[in-house]
Amino acid sequence: MNFLLPLLFFFFFFNSTASYNVVSYGAKPDGTTDSTSAFLNAWTGACGSASSAMIYVPPGRYLLNHAVFSGACRSTGITIRIDGTLVAPSDYWALGSSGYWLTFQGVNGVSISGGTLDGQGSSLWACKAAGKSCPVGARSLSFVNSRNIVIRGLSSINSKLFHIVIDGCQNVYLQGVTIMASGNSPNTDGIHVELSTGVTILRSNIMTGDDCISIGPGTTNLWIENIVCGPGHGISIGSLGRSLNEPGVQNVTVKTVTFNGTQNGLRIKSWGRPSNGFVKGVLFQNATMENVQNPIIIDQNYCPHNVGCPDQASGVKISKVTYKHIQGTSATQVAVKLDCSSKHPCTDITLEDIKLSCKNQNVESSCANAGGIARGLVQPSSCL
Ligand SMILES: *[C@@H]1O[C@H](CO)[C@@H](O)[C@H](O)[C@H]1NC(C)=O
Ligand SMILES: *[C@@H]1O[C@H](CO)[C@@H](O)[C@H](O)[C@H]1NC(C)=O
Ligand SMILES: *[C@@H]1O[C@H](CO)[C@@H](O)[C@H](O)[C@H]1NC(C)=O
Repeated sequence: MNFLLPLLFFFFFFNSTASYNVVSYGAKPDGTTDSTSAFLNAWTGACGSASSAMIYVPPGRYLLNHAVFSGACRSTGITIRIDGTLVAPSDYWALGSSGYWLTFQGVNGVSISGGTLDGQGSSLWACKAAGKSCPVGARSLSFVNSRNIVIRGLSSINSKLFHIVIDGCQNVYLQGVTIMASGNSPNTDGIHVELSTGVTILRSNIMTGDDCISIGPGTTNLWIENIVCGPGHGISIGSLGRSLNEPGVQNVTVKTVTFNGTQNGLRIKSWGRPSNGFVKGVLFQNATMENVQNPIIIDQNYCPHNVGCPDQASGVKISKVTYKHIQGTSATQVAVKLDCSSKHPCTDITLEDIKLSCKNQNVESSCANAGGIARGLVQPSSCL
């Protein structure tokens, strides 16, 4: 055991992590006192620390208003350990029209460990459902223009808009995230990624009212594995091609996902309008569908209310997309729908080892402007 002593000395002298407890900055765990400035002051302390830093949030409920945690920081590593719940104002006008609740911007080496975010979105959803005049809502947690981010064991419930957004980031690792909102809550996407490279999402459970994971323009080298999704709208690449000039989506892997009662399973969706966007190199592997309305779907004719899509043909070029070992049940007869652009047909689509069925009817597949090959058992039989 004589190796222990030098080890202890090492930690004692060299691992000096500065600690910032939000309560000592005046945060109140009572759920009603506004603790925003306490959190921001703890952040300023940690961010300016010469060593690595830890922000600690003890158990309790902390009411936070709109807050931006900005870099660049002097500290090279900030861990935010949350044992409590961060609560958004339930008044949906309180966060203004910024569209964001908690945002990290321009940071490098930030980890969030544990904790719950409570977006208190239900009154806003009700306002939207009633067709009243209401704000668009706020994304609960966003990382913008940041690098080397870890989010582990975080729960997000009842967001007003998207739950977690990764935008303009590099090297982001999310693991063991739990997302929960009502199946009919509008625009409450679970995790949204765009303009980002090297994002990994593992072992997460997502129940929400919109896409479990949505993948926007400019996403590259994305890895998604071991996800349970439902209720929700599935895992979606898109919507893409809303703009004429748009960066593409490249090298996406989605592996071992269970969809339960979702609107879609594995979806690629683009607006039916001109764009130079693209999707290239996607592997969808080992998914289980339980009563999913559209288990496999490419929809390049997205055009809500038929407005702004002059010729209904998408400019987005889709190529090299593989569906491999996808099984389970479809809630509708068309279990595989590949509806590609008439101007830019999908190329190099592979269907391999697909086994989808439907309770009381035969399943079929439907293709438009889609090219590629089928390998091994493919049921419903391939229309490629
Ligand atoms: C594709 O992305 C994965 C991470 O998801 C990465 O490991 C791999 O190197 C990337 N491939 C290419 C060709 O960039
Ligand atoms: C495929 O998915 C199932 C769960 O649906 C999982 O148990 C199994 O380990 C996965 N297989 C591989 C090779 O990842
Ligand atoms: C799917 O969801 C239903 C209802 O929410 C639940 O009863 C069922 O156990 C789930 N199935 C799986 C395989 O998780």
